[in-house]
Amino acid sequence: MSTPRKAFSNATEKLANCQLSGSLTNEQALAVAQMLSVSEPWVTLRFSAASLANYLTRDDVSLRRYAVSVDGNLAGVICVRNPWLRGPYIELLGFFPEYRGRGIGKQVLAWVEAEARCESKNLWVAASSFNQQALDFYRRLGFYPIGPIQGLVTPEHDEILLRKSLS
Ligand SMILES: CC(C)(COP(=O)(O)OP(=O)(O)OC[C@H]1O[C@@H](n2cnc3c(N)ncnc32)[C@H](O)[C@@H]1OP(=O)(O)O)[C@@H](O)C(=O)NCCC(=O)NCCS
Repeated sequence: MSTPRKAFSNATEKLANCQLSGSLTNEQALAVAQMLSVSEPWVTLRFSAASLANYLTRDDVSLRRYAVSVDGNLAGVICVRNPWLRGPYIELLGFFPEYRGRGIGKQVLAWVEAEARCESKNLWVAASSFNQQALDFYRRLGFYPIGPIQGLVTPEHDEILLRKSLS
């Protein structure tokens, strides 16, 4: 009998218009951290490039960090915590500005969802209450808001927890 496939391996995944690599290099992590630190929501949340770089490179066995590339160029990152709450939690998702609005996010989330379905009945994400673009993006992809978590990241802003039921 074959063993069921483990979700979120660190193998390279080729999607239609981008590629995911489960071994984010230090150089990629630093480039992504720099870009995120000057992008919303991280500007408002006051994340420095150094703290983001630390998050992207530190030891964390339950966090999968994938470099997303398009035509061989680094386009962004997705980080998935698994296991989380009876399903994985998308902890960080962000693309360089020139790669946004090109359908890459939708494609990457379809892959995350397919991986999650191997083992789980839920997929989770949180977005800052002021990040309407991200909230619209997740709602269009079938996530429903569960509710605000007050002051989770900074005292001034709530995070909205969203769930996609996979059953
Ligand atoms: C949010 C983000 C990850 C979305 O990824 P993306 O590649 O730009 O999104 P896509 O191009 O795949 O868009 C997918 C769908 O969402 C829709 N969408 C994208 N931006 C939208 C917006 N501002 N408002 C409403 N819908 C939007 C698209 O129209 C598309 O829908 P469709 O397929 O029905 O046309 C990306 O824009 C980003 O990196 N933003 C900055 C960082 C951020 O906010 N990250 C999320 C933190 S929780």
